[in-house]
Amino acid sequence: MPGPNHRSLLADLTLEEKASLVSGSGFWHTRSIDRVGLPAILVSDGPHGLRVQPGDGDHVGLGDSIPATCFPTASALGSSFDVDLVRSVGAAIGGEARALGVSVVLGPGINLKRTPLCGRNFEYLSEDPLVSGLLGAALVDGIQSQGVGACLKHFAVNNQETERLRISARVDDRTLREMYLAAFERVVRTAAPWTVMCSYNRINGVYASEDPWLLTGVLRDEWGFDGLVVSDWGAVDDPVAAVAAGLDLEMPSSHGAGPRAVLAAVQDGGLDESVLDVAVGHLLGLLDRAVPGVGTSQAFDVDSHHDLARRAAAECVVLLTNDGPLLPLGDDLGRVAVIGEFARSPRFQGAGSSKVNPTRVDDALGALRALLGPSVTVDFAPGFGVDDPAADLDRLAAEAVETAVGADVAVLFLGLPPSFESEGFDRTHIDLPAEQVRLLEAVAAVNDRIVVVLANGGVVSTAPWQHHAGAIVEGWLGGQAGGSAMADVLVGKVNPSGRLAETVPLRLEDTPAFPNFPGEDGEVLYGERIFVGYRHYDLVGGEVAFPFGHGLSYTTFEYSDLDVAVVDPVAEPVVELGVESGVPTSDWRGPVRLRVTVDVTNTGEREGKEVVQLYLSELDAPPPRPVRQLRGFDKVSLAPGGSATVTFELCERDLSRWSVRTGGWLLHPGSFEVAIGASSRDIRAQRTVEVVGEPPAPPLDRSSTMADWLSHPVGHDLLVEGLRTAPGGDLSLLLADEDTVMMLGSFPLNRLVTMMGDAMGDGFVEALLGQLSIAGAGSAD
Ligand code: BGC
Repeated sequence: MPGPNHRSLLADLTLEEKASLVSGSGFWHTRSIDRVGLPAILVSDGPHGLRVQPGDGDHVGLGDSIPATCFPTASALGSSFDVDLVRSVGAAIGGEARALGVSVVLGPGINLKRTPLCGRNFEYLSEDPLVSGLLGAALVDGIQSQGVGACLKHFAVNNQETERLRISARVDDRTLREMYLAAFERVVRTAAPWTVMCSYNRINGVYASEDPWLLTGVLRDEWGFDGLVVSDWGAVDDPVAAVAAGLDLEMPSSHGAGPRAVLAAVQDGGLDESVLDVAVGHLLGLLDRAVPGVGTSQAFDVDSHHDLARRAAAECVVLLTNDGPLLPLGDDLGRVAVIGEFARSPRFQGAGSSKVNPTRVDDALGALRALLGPSVTVDFAPGFGVDDPAADLDRLAAEAVETAVGADVAVLFLGLPPSFESEGFDRTHIDLPAEQVRLLEAVAAVNDRIVVVLANGGVVSTAPWQHHAGAIVEGWLGGQAGGSAMADVLVGKVNPSGRLAETVPLRLEDTPAFPNFPGEDGEVLYGERIFVGYRHYDLVGGEVAFPFGHGLSYTTFEYSDLDVAVVDPVAEPVVELGVESGVPTSDWRGPVRLRVTVDVTNTGEREGKEVVQLYLSELDAPPPRPVRQLRGFDKVSLAPGGSATVTFELCERDLSRWSVRTGGWLLHPGSFEVAIGASSRDIRAQRTVEVVGEPPAPPLDRSSTMADWLSHPVGHDLLVEGLRTAPGGDLSLLLADEDTVMMLGSFPLNRLVTMMGDAMGDGFVEALLGQLSIAGAGSAD
């Protein structure tokens, strides 16, 4: 049966009606137009569960919401490194959306974690664009498999909460393309989200909501996005500029202000009606996709979604250290001291627009008691209050110490109280509350078998206290079943397999954005450029508390037989993945250049999962270049003694970098190192291979340097010949002397000509450029 065709209604709408559609209705609906039978649809947060407000919501959209499953937050899901799992979480959220009448889920959020201080890091996946892109695409895919749309947010460069509605991120093109846009590009090209949400902030001075380069040039023309662009809630500053730039829908409703401005602009000729038609066409296209799903599903299965939330949360847990090993806790233990209010009152999600009203909440204390059984005594002491100024900390600490005395092991549930991190503000430090560290010290003084379990959205420093803990387990904000999932891991029912999707630094001062964050006078400089997260620590050789990609297991893995095949370099010459060439979406990564296989074996006694990580290094390309960059990962499940061969295919794009000069992706041929690691700092096998091809030739113009000419495949010979036949005698001899070439190489040729006067003669550079053009090698002039 053909679906609805709202698009065909465009011609029937009056100008006033079309203008009315650029803004929503209330907080969560698009506008309907009864006259032509145009329905409204409901959108809802997002991202790790649904926050559907009854009716039309309250005036700030933050009041109570209908119960829904609270899945692990993105900072947890990122650590799963598990594309299939994340897709199934997306599918469950999509299913709940269907059941609750929601047509578009406002998520996932895939902004990079530029700094651990971002108050909203719990809503984001990783410091690495590949992890964010692959897992972001899996979430979109899962949500949309249920016939509801995803909304990829916040596009783009929304990496802090301080001044988030106005701040201008000053960031260069290479950094934008390789880091901040890369994850969005992957998700848009591979998962085709129905909608994209533009961010609040400005990028290089221009609001994302009114940036034609971002919303039309990059998103639609280059990446082929064909869905709807919606503003973040309240992000539109100038509604006419927004529509002109490619924003289709302002949310929430601006109570007629946006539509009135757009109508007036069309009427007085400031905005072409065809531009408005494009925006309305995108809204009608969204209705074509969404309306068939509205009202067609049954209630969701609360129990099975809770079980999925538990499984997912357990997959996200990262075992940071495990001396002894202290974990897993066995049922041979006599008495376990469980300390910390979070064991009883879990912190499992962050605050702000993503806050879900959970269908139920599991606490780790109850789950541990159930799993350890009656033979193990589990004693509890809260140890501290969470955001409770009235808590008698000395008394709570004393009780906790008493509980820990003589216990076989003390498990401390520490973490960040809600007041420490939220949407809307950034953190000022990365430390645990001082009273929790004091508590740990006091407990450690009476018991030397200490397990610390962490609950936090953004990373916390471990260096000040980690020597007190034999085992440290990072549980993130694990959603409504995070407590029982943590118990599953602590007792070994689940073997931990999460890996850090962001580096845990030793000190805040070591972090790459530290000198520039959060900016001043309305502007924040992205001075660290592409060196975000591990790219920075590796570049400066800095020590970290725990590296990107790190995470232990209750079993061990070995790697062998790394093989790297360079694929047909002659038959498939290096191509420029230009932007103007309109590379079709399916080919956006170019041809396969390297095929990598490696065997991984479970050498321990338990079934477990390993995250095999592939890092690539350009060895010959000019700096600045990261020491290594993640270019693939795969999570494999292995029985004891079992092994598997993992294969990665790296395409042209994976080997390329953004060239500001050419405005496209360029591969610098030469040596590349392929490294397979269990973390970014635990490389288990590596190979160096040669990738052949013509080195990228910079376009030559009047001010190109002598070195530019000498490195150009055609320009080189033209220059040599020009120097040989120079009016003042053979100057090509200059090139025989390496020191002279080194010294003069950086001189623009036109300035050398001026300096050398008659020896080179007037018009020397122009003549060379002319010959270059005749040779078909072009020139930029
Ligand atoms: C947030 C978005 C959210 C929207 C609707 C905004 O303040 O930045 O992520 O989807 O509100 O609640």
